[in-house]
Amino acid sequence: MFASKGTQLSRTRAVPRFAQIRNYSNVATTRSNLFQVNPMKFNARPQQQMTSLSTINRVPTQHSFERKMSTQTEKAFEMILVEKKDKVGVVTLNRPKALNALCTQLIQELDQALKAFDSDPSVGCIVLTGSPKAFAAGADIKEMSSKTYMDVYKNGIFNELENVIKVKKPIVAAVSGYALGGGCELAMMCDIIIAGESAKFGQPEIALGTIPGIGGTQRLPRAVGKSKAMEMVLTGNPIDAQTAERSGLVSRVVPDDKVVESAMEVAKKISSFSQPIVQMAKECVNQTYESSLKEGLHFESRLFMSTFATNDQKEGMNAFVNKGKPSWKNN
Ligand code: CAA
Repeated sequence: MFASKGTQLSRTRAVPRFAQIRNYSNVATTRSNLFQVNPMKFNARPQQQMTSLSTINRVPTQHSFERKMSTQTEKAFEMILVEKKDKVGVVTLNRPKALNALCTQLIQELDQALKAFDSDPSVGCIVLTGSPKAFAAGADIKEMSSKTYMDVYKNGIFNELENVIKVKKPIVAAVSGYALGGGCELAMMCDIIIAGESAKFGQPEIALGTIPGIGGTQRLPRAVGKSKAMEMVLTGNPIDAQTAERSGLVSRVVPDDKVVESAMEVAKKISSFSQPIVQMAKECVNQTYESSLKEGLHFESRLFMSTFATNDQKEGMNAFVNKGKPSWKNN
């Protein structure tokens, strides 16, 4: 697809549309043990599916998250899948027919799910992924195309998407396929990006008569350097997974069928540590984007000192000294 028109984004379909869609529906059901928290939609569904949700509701490890989702919000999830596994909250963007284009509803659902995982004490880390073909092909162009300046100025645009960076727990993005425009920006708002070999990162907004609007012009240069970022933003040309790794945009490249598994391994490891200490470490690394080196070092030093006020610092160091295994209290 990308290759078929040189470095331009090409919309030529190498695979018939019906095959793509069928492929997606397989993904949604077989990729992992995912479930949809979707009580409203569920009422309209056949009995068999209703049974499957009630079965899932009885699984103890998922209970607090689901209860929160079904009681706090009347709105059901239709465009994402959520799962909790081994202290990891997994959010899968699931709008396959539009290549996970970030429409308002998907953004709101993502926001709700991330907030719920962030406040769930049984979750230590979050994995955010899409489908094998697309992490997300950008903001929803069809939804945006007719908006006026006054619409977006008065009401804002992508408001809830900006909440991704407020999530205290680390988010690991598992990216396969297209991560374009808002999709690339969403991946960059995560803390670690693990890319499948098929991943394509790009900011093609220039070809739409606009510019990146969810941080692309700011985060991309910090990740890949000015020259490469400029080329990507000014030409719209994407980079492949290997280039993204060489440039520092992603932490590593793995085979496509291992991308979620690899992200889960990283997330499980992170979840095995003290949650407040993990959050302090994330906050410190992020501070590097907000301050001078001197200010950042001061910030780090203060947070480092504050770990000595936690039980988990005592626990971790005592366990080392006594050759034991720490049992984190998360305080
Ligand atoms: N918004 C809305 N719909 C989208 C979309 C998007 N960003 N990307 C893909 N789709 C839809 C297509 O319209 C198509 O829908 P229909 O079947 O109803 O026609 C469906 O998803 C499948 O897409 P294609 O048929 O185009 O699939 P393809 O394999 O031929 O091409 C692609 C894939 C190269 C990613 C191509 O879809 C594409 O170029 N998409 C747009 C990418 C883009 O420009 N993203 C930036 C958006 S603007 C933005 O994000 C601004 C910002 O910074 C916030």
